[in-house]
Amino acid sequence: MSRIVTLKRRDLILGATAAALVPSLSALAADSRRLVITPGQTEGPFYPVSFPADMDNDLVRIQGQAAQATGQVAHVVGRVLNRRGEPVRGAMVEIWQCDAKGIYNHPGQAGLQRRDTAFQGYGRSEAGADGGYSFRTIRPVAYPGRTPHIHFKVHAPGAGRLTTQMYIAGERQNATDGPLSSIRDRAARESVIVRLDPADALEPGALKGTFDIVLDI
Ligand SMILES: [Fe+2]
Repeated sequence: MSRIVTLKRRDLILGATAAALVPSLSALAADSRRLVITPGQTEGPFYPVSFPADMDNDLVRIQGQAAQATGQVAHVVGRVLNRRGEPVRGAMVEIWQCDAKGIYNHPGQAGLQRRDTAFQGYGRSEAGADGGYSFRTIRPVAYPGRTPHIHFKVHAPGAGRLTTQMYIAGERQNATDGPLSSIRDRAARESVIVRLDPADALEPGALKGTFDIVLDI
C-alpha cells in the first residue's frame, strides 16, 4: 500500500515536473531559432588609449560639466545573452563612438582640437541579473569611409570578450560599409543593425534602440 502511494506521489511529481518543462522547453526552442550569435567586428583605431574620468553609461553629459553633448540623444539598451538565451549577469559592456562632428576623442584622430568636449565618447554599463545594459548617448553619425556605428566591447566574466559594432537601420551607407559588408551571413549582419525609434516619452526628441548581444558561450 505504501509502495503504491509512493509511486503515485512520484508520478505526480514527475507529471508536475514534465508539465513545468513543456512550456520552458518550447520557449527555449523558439529562442534558439531566433538567436543569432553576434558577429565580431574590427576594434578599429579609436579605442581609448586613456579612459575619461567619467566613464559611466551616460555619454551625453559629463559629470561636473553643465553642457550637454551636441547631437540627437539616443538610448541604446539590450541584453547580453549566452547561446542558450540565458542572461550573462555581470558582463561589462563598453562603447565608444565619434561625436556629432565625426571626431573621436583619440590622439590619432585628425582635427581632434575641434571635438565636442561635452561628449564623453566612451562609457561602460554592467549587465544586471537579467543581462540588461543601457546607455544614453547620441545617434552615431557617418564619417569619411564609414556608415554610422557604435563600437562595442563586451567582457563576459571568465569567458572572454567580444568586440563588435552596432549599426543603424535605414542608413544609406550601410550597403557599402566595409566592416558591415564583411559579415557575409545575412542573419548575422542584420543582427547588428538596430532600428532607432522616437522615444519622446523617455526624453523629448530622443531615440531608442535595442541591441541584444548573443555571446558564443
Ligand atoms: Fe568607428
